[in-house]
Amino acid sequence: MALQSLLLAAMAITAVRAVAIPDPTAVPAEIEMRAPVPVVTPAAIRFDGSHSYMHNRRNILSDIASGVDGVLNSLGSVLGTDVPAYVTEGIPQFFQDLPTGDQVLSRLDINDGDLDAKPTEVLNIPPYANWTDQGWNVRFHGNIYKIPDISREKLNDLADVFLIGTDIQDLTESQQNQARNLTQSIFIVQQGDQNVSFHLEPAPMQGASGQPGGGNAITPPGGSQDVTFPYETTDLGDFDAFVPIQNVSGGGLLAGNETNNVQRLNVYTNGTLSGNATAYLVPPEGITFISDIDDILRVTKIYQPKEGLLNSFARPFTQWMNMPEIYANWSQTLPNSTHFHYLTTTPEQATRLYMDFIYKTYPGGSFDTRPLNFSDVSATLSIRNFLLQKVFATFPKRKFVLVADTSNSDVMKAYPQLAHDYPNQVQCIFLRNTSATDEGDLFPYNTEGFKGLNSERYMFFKVPDDLRGLDIENGQCLNKTITQNVTFARQAELLGIHGAGGRLQGSAVVSFVVALVATLLLVL
Ligand SMILES: *[C@@H]1O[C@H](CO)[C@@H](O)[C@H](O)[C@H]1NC(C)=O
Ligand SMILES: *[C@@H]1O[C@H](CO)[C@@H](O)[C@H](O)[C@H]1NC(C)=O
Ligand SMILES: *[C@@H]1O[C@H](CO)[C@@H](O)[C@H](O)[C@H]1NC(C)=O
Ligand SMILES: *[C@@H]1O[C@H](CO)[C@@H](O)[C@H](O)[C@H]1NC(C)=O
Ligand SMILES: *[C@@H]1O[C@H](CO)[C@@H](O)[C@H](O)[C@H]1NC(C)=O
Ligand SMILES: *[C@@H]1O[C@H](CO)[C@@H](O)[C@H](O)[C@H]1NC(C)=O
Ligand SMILES: *[C@@H]1O[C@H](CO)[C@@H](O)[C@H](O)[C@H]1NC(C)=O
Ligand SMILES: *[C@@H]1O[C@H](CO)[C@@H](O)[C@H](O)[C@H]1NC(C)=O
Ligand SMILES: *[C@@H]1O[C@H](CO)[C@@H](O)[C@H](O)[C@H]1NC(C)=O
Ligand SMILES: *[C@@H]1O[C@H](CO)[C@@H](O)[C@H](O)[C@H]1NC(C)=O
Ligand SMILES: *[C@@H]1O[C@H](CO)[C@@H](O)[C@H](O)[C@H]1NC(C)=O
Ligand SMILES: *[C@@H]1O[C@H](CO)[C@@H](O)[C@H](O)[C@H]1NC(C)=O
Repeated sequence: MALQSLLLAAMAITAVRAVAIPDPTAVPAEIEMRAPVPVVTPAAIRFDGSHSYMHNRRNILSDIASGVDGVLNSLGSVLGTDVPAYVTEGIPQFFQDLPTGDQVLSRLDINDGDLDAKPTEVLNIPPYANWTDQGWNVRFHGNIYKIPDISREKLNDLADVFLIGTDIQDLTESQQNQARNLTQSIFIVQQGDQNVSFHLEPAPMQGASGQPGGGNAITPPGGSQDVTFPYETTDLGDFDAFVPIQNVSGGGLLAGNETNNVQRLNVYTNGTLSGNATAYLVPPEGITFISDIDDILRVTKIYQPKEGLLNSFARPFTQWMNMPEIYANWSQTLPNSTHFHYLTTTPEQATRLYMDFIYKTYPGGSFDTRPLNFSDVSATLSIRNFLLQKVFATFPKRKFVLVADTSNSDVMKAYPQLAHDYPNQVQCIFLRNTSATDEGDLFPYNTEGFKGLNSERYMFFKVPDDLRGLDIENGQCLNKTITQNVTFARQAELLGIHGAGGRLQGSAVVSFVVALVATLLLVL
């Protein structure tokens, strides 16, 4: 990209700032209420060749700009390009279209037969279970795969492909290890048409995978048993279905209607040591926290691609401020029936890194990541809703507290829509306004979906302390000292349409230009 265009871009933004700040109060008197239409963008990235991240150009800017007087449209045409979907959708581009199965074999130049002698590995994602007339019903889900031998040199090369703009040799030793670890976990060969079976046992308080927290979950008096998953794995090695488990005679599981506590069972996958997980048997009533992870529980900075990349591939996962303290307090002070479910759209291949971080830092709970059949971009945009609907369908009598940040446009649609659709079940929505606190994220977000919802039931907040002392059980979701400024339309700090909790200080515009230019340099 020519320097000239960059300068033009900078000038355009400055002009936008100087001339065209829209009157933020001039929101159309009547905003049409309709189910938000997902912005389906074409596959943004191909995994291919030496420079893997080739973007299809598309005028996404004009999409995001509708509602702010088309100001950004002109910016888009000055730039002659687009802000890529992963920025506006909050989906990290480095996690798009990861290679699977045969693609991995061909990238590594090996044959399926070369893996025959390799052990079968199992990713067993910590499941939740509901209580039904037939007893406990556990949603086993995960993936079966083999790990090919990859030399350290080759892993370095492969990692470099992800670390756009950074050479793995420039990282510290521990960062290199993490980069190789995640790269290795991506270059696996999924195994289709496999049977899978499990052995269940009551989980001692620490859980098989050493999970602390988890509030008042208890160890059931019994319940040891073997379970055969009723289907073979998909072509991509995934398995995902509810399977009823038995009440083993002579002291088994507590019935869902005789305990208020979440019960924990350890799940061991037959034939491997890699498929351990804890299952959470969740009573029919109580509060379930459904929490996103990136930029709410950990520092990711998805909206700054290079940072997001390093924060995922190289740097140790880092908690976001004192958020663990807030979660620990919820876990300890809310009723025994409280359950935590971590729902991230990060691809399945990165799940172990995410689980490892969460269970060291936050209360134990069940997990959802993006299954492999949702890997194209249009499916990527629907995955969160798909997973959320599944949890709601599984626990029709529970209340939900939904937590995430404003940089995910899928969250900004799905969370308020759930509150419209299940008004008696969405207890609170907590959204960190990343644009209000982080100069690196100045892209617009849309609060239209919140129109018509009880304004006491959601809060846009800036720091974890804003969440202190809320009486969530009784529906107090709003800390009155945190100014809310919801316009029910596109909001953007850059354009002076301030979101919750007020405006950014300082040289926001300059930072925006820097961020945008950095983004474009990566893209072009
Ligand atoms: C609990 O549920 C089971 C199965 O639905 C039912 O047979 C039993 O009577 C219930 N127990 C109580 C205490 O409600
Ligand atoms: C999986 O189990 C079913 C039922 O026991 C059996 O019919 C099928 O052959 C098994 N598949 C494989 C690949 O072993
Ligand atoms: C909560 O669970 C604990 C066991 O972990 C139990 O001792 C306590 O009585 C329970 N509290 C209520 C209110 O049921
Ligand atoms: C399992 O059996 C025990 C003893 O018969 C009973 O108390 C308990 O309610 C049963 N639990 C389930 C999950 O049905
Ligand atoms: C799983 O392994 C256990 C012991 O290793 C064995 O008793 C059980 O039959 C196996 N279950 C299945 C379904 O293969
Ligand atoms: C899984 O559990 C088994 C049995 O407790 C244990 O030997 C093994 O080390 C565990 N695997 C992992 C990865 O923790
Ligand atoms: C990568 O790290 C995860 C989480 O720390 C760990 O469970 C896994 O075994 C590591 N994988 C490899 C291939 O070293
Ligand atoms: C992915 O597979 C699940 C079952 O594992 C299915 O319910 C879902 O519809 C599939 N999604 C897509 C996009 O194919
Ligand atoms: C349990 O979960 C399944 C799967 O989501 C759902 O179809 C079923 O209705 C749920 N049962 C109850 C009693 O909530
Ligand atoms: C509200 O937010 C402020 C500022 O973060 C915090 O000090 C306070 O503890 C929070 N809770 C309540 C109930 O005011
Ligand atoms: C912990 O939660 C309780 C109950 O909601 C609340 O009263 C207390 O202020 C909270 N403490 C912190 C540090 O958030
Ligand atoms: C709220 O938004 C309006 C309109 O965008 C803006 O003028 C005002 O400064 C904002 N207030 C705060 C506290 O951010």
